[in-house]
Amino acid sequence: MKICMIHGSGRKGNTDITLEFIKQTMSELGDVIYTNIYLPKDLPYFCTGYMAWLFTGDYAGENCPHKKYTHLILEKLLEADAIVIGYPNYALGETG
Ligand SMILES: Cc1cc2nc3c(=O)[nH]c(=O)nc-3n(C[C@H](O)[C@H](O)[C@H](O)COP(=O)(O)O)c2cc1C
Repeated sequence: MKICMIHGSGRKGNTDITLEFIKQTMSELGDVIYTNIYLPKDLPYFCTGYMAWLFTGDYAGENCPHKKYTHLILEKLLEADAIVIGYPNYALGETG
């Protein structure tokens, strides 16, 4: 099984500790291959593609201004059987 872990904190803090705990627990249950996405390092921009994806029906496709980053992320997400998203709560909401 392939699991993609999304690390939504820019620092090595509680989010990382929590994701590591999930990793260890999942690994005890069976063979798991993990891929990781570290935010904001792996996608250091907010979306500026405006409506490009909507008009082309091509989310993160050739029209994405950040395709250098988004394509790698999309690849990891598509090849995963499961996705785990970890993020801290800042000001009553998720980060990013
Ligand atoms: C500016 C700021 C706002 C925060 N807002 C909330 C909040 O609304 N609710 C909450 O439960 N924790 C809040 N926290 C606590 C963080 O979610 C907590 O410290 C978290 O463990 C940080 O994750 P990290 O260690 O992975 O960076 C806030 C922390 C900071 C610095």
